[in-house]
Amino acid sequence: MGTFYNALLRLRCSASLVSRPSVCPSPQFLFAALRHFSNVPENSVYGGPRPQSPEKRVTLSHLRQKHHRGEPITVITAYDYPSAVHLDMAGIDVCLVGDSASMVVHGHDTTLPISLDEMLVHCRAVARGATHPLLIGDLPFGTYESNSNQAVDTAVRVLKEGGMDAIKLEGGSPSRITAAKAIVEAGIAVMGHVGLTPQAISVLGGFRPQGRNIASAVKVVETALALQEAGCFSVVLECVPAPVAAAATSALNIPTIGIGAGPFCSGQVLVYHDLLGMLQHPHHAKVTPKFCKQFAHVGDVINKALLDYKKEVTDGSFPGPDHSPYKISATDVNGFLNELQKMGLDKAASAAAAVAEKMDKSKLPNGENSP
Ligand code: KIV
Repeated sequence: MGTFYNALLRLRCSASLVSRPSVCPSPQFLFAALRHFSNVPENSVYGGPRPQSPEKRVTLSHLRQKHHRGEPITVITAYDYPSAVHLDMAGIDVCLVGDSASMVVHGHDTTLPISLDEMLVHCRAVARGATHPLLIGDLPFGTYESNSNQAVDTAVRVLKEGGMDAIKLEGGSPSRITAAKAIVEAGIAVMGHVGLTPQAISVLGGFRPQGRNIASAVKVVETALALQEAGCFSVVLECVPAPVAAAATSALNIPTIGIGAGPFCSGQVLVYHDLLGMLQHPHHAKVTPKFCKQFAHVGDVINKALLDYKKEVTDGSFPGPDHSPYKISATDVNGFLNELQKMGLDKAASAAAAVAEKMDKSKLPNGENSP
């Protein structure tokens, strides 16, 4: 990292010397720039930037190796900087910036309304927070269905402007397969998504599980195979019976990632807010999918914290001395009081004097309030 950073610094400094001799970018700027390019190559060619260390960023080869070793791949969605940092710290393999953001972040009833520009904001925030997982950005509804050119253009934006490593698209109609192939040919890794594809609720007639009769089960497997053939590196299987997911997993050479598809997939994905039990509103309790295990009840913790905050602000116990850290010396308080009196603000001077005395009494033995 040190050498790479120094090389970048030299590069940036010499470039800026040409245009603006006095400007040399700060380390923060350089790290931000460095982070922006999440697709740092595994192997460098032609003396480009040094590759990042193998444990740093999960790549498609890591996923392939895990898959070959039969180790389950972990995937979780994230939509912003803090959720991305949490995934990073947990060592999750893949971070999916899903269009489920439309529902769990923006409060829509479906995934359809979210725009590409909104998705890109989520992608960029996640890219700033997650340094380890492979980053996948969902192509939102209405941004890739028209033709392959539109699909490639959108996928390119997700990588260039969103800082993602790969994209995901839903469905397996012939036009989607063609689009997936075109995106892979444009040099962008694609994850497929079959079974319940929420962007298609209009034709599916709602959020309905798929593969529950012979024709539908066969279609799930056929579609997954077609996506593999198109060059996808992995396929999400959503809301299909476990035997159907097992068949698809066995038929494919690429990893399957299940959600509501039972345990016989190559990996699992859940939506961040669902698995954390974050949305406690009755409406969300109703729409949290049956297959989702809540690994925590974070929503309850948030509700309690907000009620406690409200109570303490209302009864005046927050902020107390521990959370009022900024000091003014006794000499300066006296000077300040004199100035206030000169300004005719006697009442303000008395208020300041009373508080200075009160805060002084609440000082810790060493003369400082706690941080
Ligand atoms: O948008 C999303 O979160 C997804 C997952 C449910 C796979 O597509």
